[in-house]
Amino acid sequence: MALAKRRGFIYQASEIYGGISGFWDYGPLGAQLKKNLRDAWWEDVVLDPCGGAPGPNGEPVRIVPLDTSIIQHPKVWEASGHIAGFSDPMVDCRETQQRYRFDHLQVYAPASGDAQGKPLFAFMPDTPSEQKQRRKAEKAFGELKTFTLAQLPYAEWARVVAPDAERAGTLTEPRAFNLMFKTYVGATATENDVAYLRPETAQGIFVQFKNVVDTTRVKVPFGIAQVGKAFRNEVTPRNFTFRSREFEQMEIEFFCHPSQARDWYGFWREQRMRWWQGLGLAGENLQLRAHAADELAHYAREGAGTSDVEYRFPFTAPGFGELEGIAHRADFDLAQHQKYAKTALEYFDAERGELLPNGSHRGERYLPHVIEPSAGLDRGLLAVLCEAYTEDPARASPELLLINPRLAPIKAAIFPLVNKDGMPEVSEKLHAEVRRRFWRRGLIEHDAKQAIGKRYARMDEAGCPFCFTVDGETLRDQSVTVRDRDTARQERIGLDKVVGYLEERLGAD
Ligand code: GAP
Repeated sequence: MALAKRRGFIYQASEIYGGISGFWDYGPLGAQLKKNLRDAWWEDVVLDPCGGAPGPNGEPVRIVPLDTSIIQHPKVWEASGHIAGFSDPMVDCRETQQRYRFDHLQVYAPASGDAQGKPLFAFMPDTPSEQKQRRKAEKAFGELKTFTLAQLPYAEWARVVAPDAERAGTLTEPRAFNLMFKTYVGATATENDVAYLRPETAQGIFVQFKNVVDTTRVKVPFGIAQVGKAFRNEVTPRNFTFRSREFEQMEIEFFCHPSQARDWYGFWREQRMRWWQGLGLAGENLQLRAHAADELAHYAREGAGTSDVEYRFPFTAPGFGELEGIAHRADFDLAQHQKYAKTALEYFDAERGELLPNGSHRGERYLPHVIEPSAGLDRGLLAVLCEAYTEDPARASPELLLINPRLAPIKAAIFPLVNKDGMPEVSEKLHAEVRRRFWRRGLIEHDAKQAIGKRYARMDEAGCPFCFTVDGETLRDQSVTVRDRDTARQERIGLDKVVGYLEERLGAD
């Protein structure tokens, strides 16, 4: 976190006012890194889906982009279930499948003395669980006191026996996705004008499904992709940007015939895992985990299931944290919107259906099933930073970032060894040439100040993969030093080979 701030990747939002919990700003290098990660997703999902790999139907994967409003008609969130089911912070019991209001649950603990490591008994006031848990707690502790579950740090929840549960530690963290930010549309600001900031980009896609089908030439199976901000009033924002209240999602809703949903689910699980691996999260810190039945979201209970691409963050280790969820949402969302909007959202598939006795063909009308790979841009960026972070006491900068060159915010840096003797003129000319060629990819730096070792160290910390230095020899034989960040090794190449050297490593446009 210190390096991320010092080098201008991530700042606390409103820091000079003491910050605001759950909100983060990206500094100059962070903003460029975030753009590069977003662009990589856009390129590999929208412009060149899956690098041309065929889908389970043997055909190229088709995906179209969309950009929908953050504020939608409030009925969208009624239909999606976000208002009715999830408008308060809830905790679930994995053992009994019961759901409780987080802020209502209370706990019995010993009135005094040390309860370290002993079970604590949770109950809902004014329900039978209150008496039942009281009897258990009195047996264990004698005199009791009560406090709310919210007062107990989450790290202690492993000791909590939920109402009606046998085992301790079965309560999930408060579910925060339910907590939508409220706002008012229009000047009167009455309760009739309430609207919500979207808690996921997905619903914008579902409510425009019909328009996309009617106005473009897409045919099921196809996907709609969207990148954008989402807002959740998380109860416990924490772990740097991992759980924020404002964040960006990169979501695909992939529509297919119900009979093909399992195949597409398997396909997307694999593709998405491979994508993150391709960005350098390739080792043991990345895993693909299928959800257990009791973890599945309400929309994913029927069907092929849900899997998460997870990364072992330093703050979750030895456990993992979710980067992306791949869910078979069946036809839950389209069916809900069809019902609430009273608009037919069925897809007419002319290629399916049956041959009628009179020889004509009747197509099939159905609600497509959805496979949803839903990734977090901010979490992805955090994983990239964590994976890149390396300590090497032998270097001038003992901390460096081995960011994948495709994502690195600074692609290359050009230095004159000293800021005199004709060197800056050559390095500035080289900088202009490299910049002209690669400005679309990211920043190309020129730096003539400080000792050369310090300049390399600065670039190592910023994750810049390649540095080129113009020195005395350059003036004699038209060669420069190129230094590779990962190995710190240097070699000489011709001035006229610099662009080609970078093309080989950054890829040509
Ligand atoms: N449309 C499905 C959906 O929104 P989700 O698992 O709740 O599913 C998808 O969110 C992704 O969004 C997560 O895998 C995570 O990367 C990111 N995400 C969710 N909540 C977040 C938060 N509070 N802060 C940062 N990223 C978050």
